[in-house]
Amino acid sequence: MKREYAIPKYQHMIHGCDYNPDQWQNYPEILNEDIRLFKLANLNEMTLGIFSWAALEPEEGKFDFSFLDKAMDDVYAAGGRVILATPSGSRPHWLSDKYPEVLRYTENFVQRKYGRRHNHCYTSENYREKVRIIDTKLAERYKDHPALIAWHISNELSGECYCPLCQQAFRDWLKNKYKTIDNLNHIWWNGFWAHNYSDWSQIDPPSNIGENSVHALKLDWKRFVTEQTSNFLEHEIATVKAVTPNIPVTTNLMMSFYDVLDYRRVNKNVDFSSVDIYPKWKGNDADDINVAIETALDYDATRSYKHKPFLLMESAPGAPNWFPYNRLTRAGQHELVSMQSVAHGADSVQYFQFRKCRGGFEKFHGAVVDHEGSENTRIFKEISALGKKLLNLDEVVGTMPDSRVAIIHDWSNKWALDDAAAFYRRDKKLLPTVTQFYKSLWTRGIDTDIIGFEDDFANYSFIIAPMLYTVSEEVGKNLTKFVENGGTLLCTYMTAMVDENDLCHLGGFPGAGLRKVFGIWNEEIDTLYPEQKVLVKTENGECEAIDYCELIHTEGAKVIAEYASEFYAGMPAATVNEYGKGKAYYIAFRDKGEFTEKIMEKILSETKISSKFCSQLPYGVTAHSREDDNAVYVFLQNFTRSEQTLTPTDSWSNIENNEVINKEFVLLPYETKILKKLKV
Ligand code: GAL
Repeated sequence: MKREYAIPKYQHMIHGCDYNPDQWQNYPEILNEDIRLFKLANLNEMTLGIFSWAALEPEEGKFDFSFLDKAMDDVYAAGGRVILATPSGSRPHWLSDKYPEVLRYTENFVQRKYGRRHNHCYTSENYREKVRIIDTKLAERYKDHPALIAWHISNELSGECYCPLCQQAFRDWLKNKYKTIDNLNHIWWNGFWAHNYSDWSQIDPPSNIGENSVHALKLDWKRFVTEQTSNFLEHEIATVKAVTPNIPVTTNLMMSFYDVLDYRRVNKNVDFSSVDIYPKWKGNDADDINVAIETALDYDATRSYKHKPFLLMESAPGAPNWFPYNRLTRAGQHELVSMQSVAHGADSVQYFQFRKCRGGFEKFHGAVVDHEGSENTRIFKEISALGKKLLNLDEVVGTMPDSRVAIIHDWSNKWALDDAAAFYRRDKKLLPTVTQFYKSLWTRGIDTDIIGFEDDFANYSFIIAPMLYTVSEEVGKNLTKFVENGGTLLCTYMTAMVDENDLCHLGGFPGAGLRKVFGIWNEEIDTLYPEQKVLVKTENGECEAIDYCELIHTEGAKVIAEYASEFYAGMPAATVNEYGKGKAYYIAFRDKGEFTEKIMEKILSETKISSKFCSQLPYGVTAHSREDDNAVYVFLQNFTRSEQTLTPTDSWSNIENNEVINKEFVLLPYETKILKKLKV
């Protein structure tokens, strides 16, 4: 496996943070102290200028780069590098005073006042033009600055705008997609409740005070919002690339399963992906192992957008300030959670923020430097100690896991399924279902990619696609080919019920050609009340079905579990079908986890997929790996508060001290060990 670098010109592990010297212009002694502390904290990067627009352009067309000039020079002189942000995530007052169209409209079509951040209209040409000007100024000023290694475009792109400009852009987008209003009426099935449009101008975005019952409209609106946001991002990318074509760009996104934007699309034209992660650690092993699993899933998704190393752009030193309960990380936990990102393919550990601001909404948010101001705080010491380790980790930079397993997570599927007026209306529980399968992989230390419909399925031996309700004919063909060619596919209840336009497949579920691949027909779905259970008889004894039981008929598949209660007792509950050179497993019910575990164990053994490190890991310990052509690195992490004993199946060396590890050893509470093995 060839190494791939997020930032080819800086092949080092990055240990950095958001830094806001613009807020401290009246405190010159603090700005000098910052640079001393930056070095002491073993940091090598600062992300500058994220929300600095008002400082950089205090009046329209009047620019002042003095604070940024100094910060860029100071960081560089201290041996650091800069990821420079474009400031479009929060605009100065003068901008919306003069161009009120930049203010977003709410879902009720009411214009917002100035306030908060991430609040601009992505369509407004005036906003785009003002952003183009400030971005160009920044790029021209710093294009040759030796500190500049990457662009951080905007901040956590998010939200929707319902203004007249966005409404018109939506209509234009629909016109381009559907060409004629008749075609749109047919695909959206508007004959239902007499909702046919006779003119494009009648189409409004979905809203609680207007149209909210046309599923396809809602789906297209979400796609449009993603497209418009990505287009805004790409406007900024083109602007900075016009001046600095060789400086890579990224944009920091929130946890990967954020609902409104299709992050895979948003990431399409950045050079590398970045993520901000703020896990809610609770302090007891049972909860924290689940938090670790959810966090790992986020990292794997982020890495899989571009199939290359990513940056952990933000995380909290200490506690954040916006959770309901802002619990501090306990001793050792900071290093554990930071190293977790690296274990999953991050080539950085970065924080929000360097210094706690003195006022404002985030004055109590964790930071490298506290209001107290010295290097003597617990958090500072932990960061500095971790920095020492990270700065010695250059040899893993650019390596990647070699995943043979992938889970399909697609936004159109999520949006369509969540909105379906059927089953359990309020919460279909897609994410917990995905997480349940992922958990089986995490607890076994199996590297996993989280992929979308456009990824090449041929890269994997085993694909898991839980609740894959939306399957187009094309995706159906690709999944069929995957199984025909020897892949193992695992799907569940609600597979391939609608196509990409949210129209039901005709001719029996699963549609899109998958009925023959699974060798089953799904006739009906029983949605259970929370207190109801259905018994299922499996090869390993009985288990309970909750939430959903599909009534399926075999058409060639072999039954591996069957219902043992209810009027459908005796009907198949899980099946496997040999198809081409591969196998297609179908689980027709939701279980509490035991059956998932068993079936995963069986498939992983059939496909000979296992951890690179050992066959069995204690619960709460995981082993994720990254590699290149010459070596494999395994990150062993103990997410429990007790010692855990591990036994490798091979001989490894500890990269910290070259100690040979070839027999039983202990992993301390919250400890991470990074081991290396040469290939041949
Ligand atoms: C992020 C944001 C940062 C900061 C941080 C606090 O979502 O990008 O600017 O607000 O949260 O946790």
